[in-house]
Amino acid sequence: MLFNTQQTLKQIVTLASKELERADLFFGHGTDNSWDEACWLVETLVQRSGIDQINAEMALEEVVLNELQKLLIRRTKEKIPLAYLLNEAWFAGLPFYVDDQVIIPRSPIAELIKNRFKPLIADEPKRILDLCCGSGCIGLASAFEFPGAKIVLADLSTEALTVAAINKEKHGLNSRCTLQQSDLFTDLKGPFDLIVSNPPYVGEAEYMTLPYEYKHEPTMALVSERNGLEIPVGILRQAADYLTEDGILILEVGNSWQALADLYPKAPFLWLEFENGGEGILSLSYKQLREYGF
Ligand SMILES: C[S@@+](CC[C@H](N)C(=O)[O-])C[C@H]1O[C@@H](n2cnc3c(N)ncnc32)[C@H](O)[C@@H]1O
Repeated sequence: MLFNTQQTLKQIVTLASKELERADLFFGHGTDNSWDEACWLVETLVQRSGIDQINAEMALEEVVLNELQKLLIRRTKEKIPLAYLLNEAWFAGLPFYVDDQVIIPRSPIAELIKNRFKPLIADEPKRILDLCCGSGCIGLASAFEFPGAKIVLADLSTEALTVAAINKEKHGLNSRCTLQQSDLFTDLKGPFDLIVSNPPYVGEAEYMTLPYEYKHEPTMALVSERNGLEIPVGILRQAADYLTEDGILILEVGNSWQALADLYPKAPFLWLEFENGGEGILSLSYKQLREYGF
């Protein structure tokens, strides 16, 4: 056992961080380094044991240390992302329940939400669609920024919708948010003022190169055929039919952005920039979608 009740919290976090560092892990599902991940793990377990006031010199109870040791072993040996082990991920400053039926929320779209999509949208959206919603993080976080809006959370996966339902309930958003199972737009009814989508966009070849942590996430949440572009292009082709005339589409395509730009060299994509990092997110208005005619 790595930990004991004589150690201070600071010593425990340092030991946990070194253990994570030694294990050749990938960090990118909620943190980007071993120290932050160790802090997240220890703090969560301490809080879950009923202690609110945390300080660097405090000792931890044996029951907390046993749980810490157990989760650390699973994280380092099985390379399970910490968010799945804790069943919790943070997005746009909010906690979301997660398990391996959804990807772990990490989209740079969180920054757009916190900025209320300024300056991309002028008026408060009345209807927002989170297409390919997974845990529901994008749509539910948007609901907090736009208290007058109705939100539709759509996904093809029944399992993902089960997780989105848990989060809708957790955040008390049942009256304004509805869930819809749909293969892209097939079972949806527009129009929406804002469509936000973080769909699968990883090509099969790129998927094979991803760190092992990604293999714990649902493949259908990550991989899209035609080099990652099949689903994003499907969305571009149909989005205008589901937008109001002043409506906006925000679409994430990640590393596939260059391939998409090459496929449509004359398309008026607006590639957004992020203070907190991230790329491959575009914006198009209803008018641009219609004029270009995807
Ligand atoms: C990259 S995940 C995004 C989840 C969430 N929006 C987020 O940012 O964390 C993509 C989601 O698209 C869903 N999906 C895959 N194919 C789909 C399709 N044809 N129609 C609707 N949803 C689909 C997956 O089930 C998965 O939940």
